[in-house]
Amino acid sequence: TAPTFERATSLGFTSVPFSTEDKVIVPKGYTARAFYKWGDPVGIVGNMPKFKFDASNSAEEQAAQAGMHHDGMAFFPLPYGSNTATHGLLAMNHEYVDNGLLFKDGIENWDLTKVRKSQNAMGISVVEVKRENNEWSVVMPSSFARRITPHTPMLVTGPAAGNDLMKTAADPKGIVVLGTMQNCANGKTPWGTYLTCEENWSDIFVNPSNNLTALEKRYGIKSKEKSYLWSKEDERFNTEINPNEPNRFGWVVEIDPFNPTSTPRKHTMLGRIKHEGAEMVITPNGQVAVYMGDDQRFEYIYKFVSKNRYKEGDRVANMRLLEEGTLYVAKFNEDGSGEWLPLVFGQNGLTPENGFADQGEVLVKTRMAGDVLGATKMDRPEWISADPFESGSLYCTLTNNSERGKEGKPGTDAANPRNNNRFGHIIRWKEKNGDGTELSFKWNIFVLAGNPDSPKEEHRGNIMGDIFGSPDGLAFDYRGVLWIQTDVSSSRLNEKEYAGMGNNQMVATIPGTGEYRRFLTAPNGSEVTGIAFTPDNKTLFINIQHPGEPKDGDSDPLNPTAVSSWPDGHSRPRAATVVITKDDGGVIGS
Ligand code: FEO
Ligand code: CA
Ligand code: CA
Ligand code: CA
Repeated sequence: TAPTFERATSLGFTSVPFSTEDKVIVPKGYTARAFYKWGDPVGIVGNMPKFKFDASNSAEEQAAQAGMHHDGMAFFPLPYGSNTATHGLLAMNHEYVDNGLLFKDGIENWDLTKVRKSQNAMGISVVEVKRENNEWSVVMPSSFARRITPHTPMLVTGPAAGNDLMKTAADPKGIVVLGTMQNCANGKTPWGTYLTCEENWSDIFVNPSNNLTALEKRYGIKSKEKSYLWSKEDERFNTEINPNEPNRFGWVVEIDPFNPTSTPRKHTMLGRIKHEGAEMVITPNGQVAVYMGDDQRFEYIYKFVSKNRYKEGDRVANMRLLEEGTLYVAKFNEDGSGEWLPLVFGQNGLTPENGFADQGEVLVKTRMAGDVLGATKMDRPEWISADPFESGSLYCTLTNNSERGKEGKPGTDAANPRNNNRFGHIIRWKEKNGDGTELSFKWNIFVLAGNPDSPKEEHRGNIMGDIFGSPDGLAFDYRGVLWIQTDVSSSRLNEKEYAGMGNNQMVATIPGTGEYRRFLTAPNGSEVTGIAFTPDNKTLFINIQHPGEPKDGDSDPLNPTAVSSWPDGHSRPRAATVVITKDDGGVIGS
């Protein structure tokens, strides 16, 4: 049986100050340690290549090692169905790559071999982790260990499966996609599967002639890009040659971490956007609702509600729940009420006259369908978390939006109340009757992030306690403590409006108390992301992403330690998972 917790009423740790130190700092009485660093073997039996500190591992080796830039993550106790707190699987995303760090010579001598290594550094890891003698480590070898890359075959489910817009020369039926990429945040289902969310996939595709279609423009595909360079050697990512390949990305993918030979499934019913995360709740009558943000300026918040009900113990049936249901987009009214508008073909203008031939097309063009319905344009929706002690109560980070109120851009509305929103905010809503199947809700602004020392009123915020900005990662733990992780862009860290605020950080709050307390500060140039607690709430896993990222975003291969050498101290920086425990063995945050 699962441990049960009362809702925490106070935070028990002493907050840590702002930091510009190149390390992870946690409160007195806690220990944080990095493991499963980029390049560490994932633990596949018979294939455990060691990391080479000069970044000379091959593409094949990279496919059996931790990818770059860890992001969302979930813990699954072993054995399946148990509440073990000392042994389990961590499934995690490797969101993107920095080719300046990935290769000794960066993008010099760019060729297909380099593209393959770059691709193999993205995707998902499933690692077996175990706590022995009070220390967590990766179990190697492990029969569960797995890397999923942009080459792993995946099945497409739902109304867009087999749609003409999903067909390519390599997949004329439009039902098998190779791989997943740009996986940002995540979700976790009650039946023990991992949901990984494809976010900035459009950054990888190019249309070199700049003959951009309306669909490409709406999702931000451009004629060139200089960060990934895959399209130069791999024509799958050139949309002039493969115009439908981008339509096969931007989905939520379900992975069974317990079966390393299982085929991941892309669930088109959850819409095609720049998916940040996928927070699932079981509704009072047993359907599932999944809440999702589309992280770009002026994009929308979505909800999927399943047609069928969750059946305790029937994993096979539950694994099909995300294939059928209804997708909705959120409208936040000025008076604090809100509505979920259905993205259903044939209704509310989602018709052939408006460019939607069928439900599959509505889903491939989810953003355009949201436009037709008049959904509310938000300040970059990132993570969404459901309050475990209050049914139908959801919180969403709106990380920032410096373009709100700029000429030609939308101005403020009640749900996005600040122009030039540099610090972001957190919004919360309560579904009618606390029921995720309902189509109306009440909302309010939970907190306006900010810096009270800022000369500009719109940057001051209303935080009581430790201040922060650009909230991104957001999750309740089992005790109802809400954890917030920041992603201030490296170009602004400790500068401009963020002067004096140091590196990125993680803070805790308990709704109703109004108090925010800083729990962790991150190494130089990194963001803090990924939140996974063990069922006893005594171990917290987080990820440090892009340590050492320079102000301009691209690492210099000739000087990879210019900003950070975390976590090894003697070599190029490496994204890593950090395991945090309390020295007295107590619950985290107590
Ligand atoms: Fe990958 Fe929206 O953060
Ligand atoms: Ca994020
Ligand atoms: Ca972010
Ligand atoms: Ca990120």
